[in-house]
Amino acid sequence: MSEPSAIDQVTLNAGDKAVTLPVARGTLGAPCIEIAKLPKETGCFTYDPGFTATAACRSAITYIDGDAGVLLYRGYPIEQLAKDSSFLEVAYLLMNGELPDKQAFTSFEHDVTHHTMLHEAFKGFLDGFRHDAHPMSMLVGMLGSMASFYHNDLDYDDPQQRRLAAIRLIAKLPTIAAACHRHSVGWPLRYPRNNLEYVNRFLHMMFEVPSGPLEINPVAAKALDLLFILHADHEQNASTSTVRLVGSTGANPYACIAAGVAALWGPAHGGANEAVLKMLAEIGDAKHVQSAVDRAKDKESGFRLMGFGHRVYKNFDPRAKIIREMCHQVLEELGVNDPLLEVAMKLEEAALKDDYFVQRKLYPNVDFYSGIIYKALGIPTEMFTVMFAIARTAGWVAHWLEQQEDPEFKIGRPRQIYTGHDVRDYVPVAKR
Ligand code: CMC
Repeated sequence: MSEPSAIDQVTLNAGDKAVTLPVARGTLGAPCIEIAKLPKETGCFTYDPGFTATAACRSAITYIDGDAGVLLYRGYPIEQLAKDSSFLEVAYLLMNGELPDKQAFTSFEHDVTHHTMLHEAFKGFLDGFRHDAHPMSMLVGMLGSMASFYHNDLDYDDPQQRRLAAIRLIAKLPTIAAACHRHSVGWPLRYPRNNLEYVNRFLHMMFEVPSGPLEINPVAAKALDLLFILHADHEQNASTSTVRLVGSTGANPYACIAAGVAALWGPAHGGANEAVLKMLAEIGDAKHVQSAVDRAKDKESGFRLMGFGHRVYKNFDPRAKIIREMCHQVLEELGVNDPLLEVAMKLEEAALKDDYFVQRKLYPNVDFYSGIIYKALGIPTEMFTVMFAIARTAGWVAHWLEQQEDPEFKIGRPRQIYTGHDVRDYVPVAKR
């Protein structure tokens, strides 16, 4: 891991005044200039659209080194967790900071398993949606309503109630997600089965039909578990920052996670896996790949290669490396021969050797491959971002829990550079 540089303070000359700013260090990563006293000392704010240079909190959950392609959850490399852990164990790790021993894991798994059911009134919410409603809009709506079911447990000064809310969210997300899918296809809802573990239970709720038993392919379950591990957290990304911003107001955790889901929906974030599949289908044939690459390079076209590029990973996305292998394994073992995979592989090859993409360090990201795996598992395209949301809930609740105990906890309130009119007088309509 690269050593942080030795800077321990920075002096800024603002007019005739020199302001010395302390430099904070984490355990790993770049030093951060602490600027909180700047407005008081200089009358100036800082401007950083997209927060590309700004840390918004201290966090001990996840570390990313974008240049080196490193991703750690609580210090553990993603490669090791992907190989040997499970999603539920990773969820425990993110929430609690340490890997569980056997007893702690059994108790956590028991708690999650016994909070998977939904209040029957949720069915009424679902029935209110049109059959063709996008599952992400159903998910946001259903999550937004969740606090109304637990208004007796909303004392978030109580760590037990905070933990209960986190468990409920991790437990119920798959049940809600599967219910949204079944509403779309017109199937009767399935109750969560306590004799199945997390991923198998979800696949059962998604795909079991009244007319026949469902055999869950262990390769499908393994691939899904892996995808959930890889998507579980990614430090202060747009949706997690949204959860924290909403959380900073003291809003209840269900509202915070609903806001996180809404942020995840956008195609520049979690919506990218759905956008990748749509793009591959639009390209349609491997022989059209080069023209798609050319179009992505043409700024006038407004077209970008979905699943390429990352705000933080500027060399490679370690998750994409792991998932690429799994993608091939799934397609081989499930016997899926999908022409879109050929388009995907040609696109990957063409972009990786194209100067435009090489110079800008635009590599396939995790969503480039995850969509193909989801498709192979029979998960409809509209559900892809919902799948991401199930996994990311583990990270969101971990960040929300961490924020609630943060001694520097403050309402999030960015400033702006005002570009509107100077003061002017109101003119009554008759005189305009
Ligand atoms: N296709 C073509 N050109 C691109 C692409 C792309 N996918 N991504 C970036 N560029 C170009 C961009 O036009 C710019 O060119 P120039 O320097 O000539 O102006 C340069 O690369 C830098 O782009 P940027 O927009 O400043 O980069 P960013 O760090 O702000 O954006 C991104 C990161 C992920 C939003 C962007 O790469 C993108 O839109 N990718 C496609 C959507 C996607 O796959 N999103 C999923 C991200 S991974 C999942 C997650 O963690 O949420």
